[in-house]
Amino acid sequence: MTRRDSLRHFSTFLAGSPVLSAWQEPDRSLGIDDMLNVFDFDSACKRRITREAYDYISGGAEDEFTLRRNRSAFGKITFRPRMLVDVSKLDMSIELFGSKSDMPVFIAPTGTHGRANPSGEPSTAKGAGEAGTIMGISSSSSYPLNEIVKSATRPVWFQLYAGPDGPGTRDRVQRAVDLGCKAILFTIDAPYFPHRERDLRNRLVRPEVQREVNARRRRPDEESATYGLPARFTSTLTWKFFGEVAGYAKVPVLAKGVLTAADARLAVENGAAGIVVSNHGGRYLDGDPATIEMLPEIVAAVGSRVPVLMDGGIRRGTDVLKALALGAKAVFVGRPPLWGLGAFGQPGVTRVMKLLQTELALAMGLAGVPNLAAIKPDLVAVDPR
Ligand SMILES: Cc1cc2nc3c(=O)[nH]c(=O)nc-3n(C[C@H](O)[C@H](O)[C@H](O)COP(=O)(O)O)c2cc1C
Repeated sequence: MTRRDSLRHFSTFLAGSPVLSAWQEPDRSLGIDDMLNVFDFDSACKRRITREAYDYISGGAEDEFTLRRNRSAFGKITFRPRMLVDVSKLDMSIELFGSKSDMPVFIAPTGTHGRANPSGEPSTAKGAGEAGTIMGISSSSSYPLNEIVKSATRPVWFQLYAGPDGPGTRDRVQRAVDLGCKAILFTIDAPYFPHRERDLRNRLVRPEVQREVNARRRRPDEESATYGLPARFTSTLTWKFFGEVAGYAKVPVLAKGVLTAADARLAVENGAAGIVVSNHGGRYLDGDPATIEMLPEIVAAVGSRVPVLMDGGIRRGTDVLKALALGAKAVFVGRPPLWGLGAFGQPGVTRVMKLLQTELALAMGLAGVPNLAAIKPDLVAVDPR
């Protein structure tokens, strides 16, 4: 055997060995049907969009402590499943604030979907409709609100960033309601711009596609990621302003960004029809607790008076089931549908939401809870450490 023959022989042997295949590059041609879970969409999205856009979607504030904690906190919760319950029919449908959804997993309002895919929010709205769920539309959307609402076949809720002009807030709320938005998600956790260091390093600027027509007017210093403390109208807001908005809105107004029982009570006292326990997906105050950690105290404080919803770190159907067991009526996902949109456009949004629905159904079936009403706190145990 010549040297060349023995080399060829050796490489043929290696090609068939499991060691070598473990080292092979991932297949970049993976299609949508190869996506088995939300994390697959994250990887696919990372390969298919620009680094600036991917970092904007996936990053968090400063050390990204809260971003990680939103995920790791789910690892402290385990199930106490029940056996020999008839789970041959699984019902996940829900109606909240007059809006119906096939699943208790909604799309969180997130800004500038045009960064993920030029087809932007109208695609997300169609994707949400195909999946049979509710979509929150951000004030900072890439497309005008009326175009997004026109594409929706399921209820949509409008996310409000108030300011900088107090009276303009009222007009925007009114317009959203006139266009058919069924609830207002009033975001209360963003009085200053955070330092998202990935965006600062990437010198992120607003892309051409972004028109931000639904947002308040922006000053030039708000155009790109900024280091420092630029004054914001939102930093002057108090619960009094929240109460005024809740008073004139004509649709339910939810306080989005509550992290303590004390604020949950204040929100309800000031007219909130619901609470969204949220730390903005770890994008504002780094050092915030995980939302799933704060959910029980907030449910205990106001859960008998108004629906409590939550978001942050939900990536699996089992995460949804844990949140529902701890008292959430429904949850939102922020990054997952954006990864779906970035990787595959509208079908990606639909598939991400349907994957979560399927995983939730599977988890409910295996845990012995055939419908949402059967999900009780004793379905989970929380590790106190
Ligand atoms: C790229 C991105 C943009 C966001 N933009 C907004 C926004 O405009 N308004 C808002 O209230 N929340 C915004 N959020 C927060 C989400 O509504 C939600 O609270 C968060 O994404 C939930 O965490 P998750 O991404 O881990 O699911 C944004 C989140 C992301 C990831």
